[in-house]
Amino acid sequence: MDILWGSEHKKKFATNVGLITTTGPRGDNIMAAEWTHHVSFSPGLIAVCIGPGKATAINIDATQEFGVNLAASDQNVLSSVAGGETKGKAVNKIGVLKDLGFKFFQGKKIRAKMVEDAIMQAECKLVNKIVLGDHIMYVGEVVELYPVSSKDPLIYTENKYFKLGENIKKPAPEELAKIESIIAKHSKDHI
Ligand SMILES: Cc1cc2nc3c(=O)[nH]c(=O)nc-3n(C[C@H](O)[C@H](O)[C@H](O)COP(=O)(O)O)c2cc1C
Repeated sequence: MDILWGSEHKKKFATNVGLITTTGPRGDNIMAAEWTHHVSFSPGLIAVCIGPGKATAINIDATQEFGVNLAASDQNVLSSVAGGETKGKAVNKIGVLKDLGFKFFQGKKIRAKMVEDAIMQAECKLVNKIVLGDHIMYVGEVVELYPVSSKDPLIYTENKYFKLGENIKKPAPEELAKIESIIAKHSKDHI
């Protein structure tokens, strides 16, 4: 079955917005990717799923590296420009964003620019590329990290941007104790 863009089922996923920066045959570029996931602790691996043929995919294929910048809640305009109809094949979106007042800095271990004031910035070297349906998953090993920001992440769900709200508490110790006794009752030790 399909889960199409704009469908009710697609809208139920809630994610960060990754701002993926690259350089290469399509020049300096930035795109927004909701499919940006931390997938390994050691080594630190980050997977991004990108539509084939996009300037970002072409740049990563050529350079084997990309920047992952997690958008802050005040970077909704930046995300919309990076992820809108303006394509990196035709327009220097980083130039547009600079003119709008957003700032970038040169990556240390990769040739791409990085996004200033993102909540987390990671420079990645490509270690795996997997075609998954109509997207390509690029898996990058983190080779450089920067101090994180205390700002909130930009959250993407329902095809809209949100900011984190109320902190939902984890179970209290008494509740946890009750759950532990039920877990013991359902133990598979006898298998
Ligand atoms: C919030 C948001 C999230 C997006 N997530 C993805 C994604 O995960 N993968 C993808 O291929 N495109 C995604 N897009 C669309 C791309 O950002 C868009 O096609 C962009 O123009 C591609 O850039 P490029 O052609 O310059 O590489 C998203 C767009 C927005 C606004």
